[in-house]
Amino acid sequence: MPSFFSSTRDIPQVNPVPRHIAIIMDGNGRWAKQRMLPRAAGHKRGVEIVREMVKACVARGVDYLTLFAFSSENWRRPAEEVSMLKQLFIMALEREAEKLHRNGIRLRIVGDIAPFGDKINELVERAERLTQSNTSMTLTIAANYGGRWDLLQAMQRLIEANPQQRGGFTEEQLAGHLAMAYAPEPDLFIRTGGEQRISNFLLWQLAYSEFYFTDTLWPDFDAAALDKAIASYQQRERRFGRTSEQLELAGGARASKKELA
Ligand code: IPE
Ligand code: IPE
Ligand code: MG
Repeated sequence: MPSFFSSTRDIPQVNPVPRHIAIIMDGNGRWAKQRMLPRAAGHKRGVEIVREMVKACVARGVDYLTLFAFSSENWRRPAEEVSMLKQLFIMALEREAEKLHRNGIRLRIVGDIAPFGDKINELVERAERLTQSNTSMTLTIAANYGGRWDLLQAMQRLIEANPQQRGGFTEEQLAGHLAMAYAPEPDLFIRTGGEQRISNFLLWQLAYSEFYFTDTLWPDFDAAALDKAIASYQQRERRFGRTSEQLELAGGARASKKELA
């Protein structure tokens, strides 16, 4: 069993460009409401922004982009909205998989997707298989994902994989069974739409991520807005528990532009 990197066990390398960006894409409904449009219009525009964001992240050298599309709590929404979101997911998978593939992007879906039905499950399988060897960036869509669901399924699988082990499990062991075990922990976490909460997103992996909240609604979040978030990230001092003085001695862990020069 391979060992997995954990920011609480080892100190990760800090680069000026975040290697992994995770985003809660929030504000589609309010964007539509401001324009007296149905919520569906906001979600449609939201999908277009996803396309733009994928391009922008590849261009900036981001290795992993993770987008929260549907939370395990979003089933609480009106049935028509849930079904419309499923429809959009189907359309996006049908239309975008080839394009992602042509651009060398690997697509992964994380979350409990069985309840979405056969059609979505088949499309996901096909798109993941098609793009599995691509290396320019990994795009992860979290669908019917919840951080607590992920921790529970990881724990379950950990126990199943080690029937003889009665205790003494390590962080690396658990992390190896999380849905996103293939990716490093996010360096930068962005939430659009003004709320300042995690809403049950990546609970384990956000332990040492830098947080960036913006009032900009997701359908308005463009490449310039992304650059603002990255610029804010570059001003942070990522200490991982150490003191500033220690960082100075070690050559600094600020992901600043200065260090690029
Ligand atoms: C985010 O936008 C998209 C999903 C949760 C699917 P919202 O639909 O939550 O938009 P607001 O928060 O109502 O504006
Ligand atoms: C979080 O947005 C989930 C997604 C963006 C998919 P919500 O709009 O559902 O979050 P809450 O309900 O405001 O916390
Ligand atoms: Mg919302």
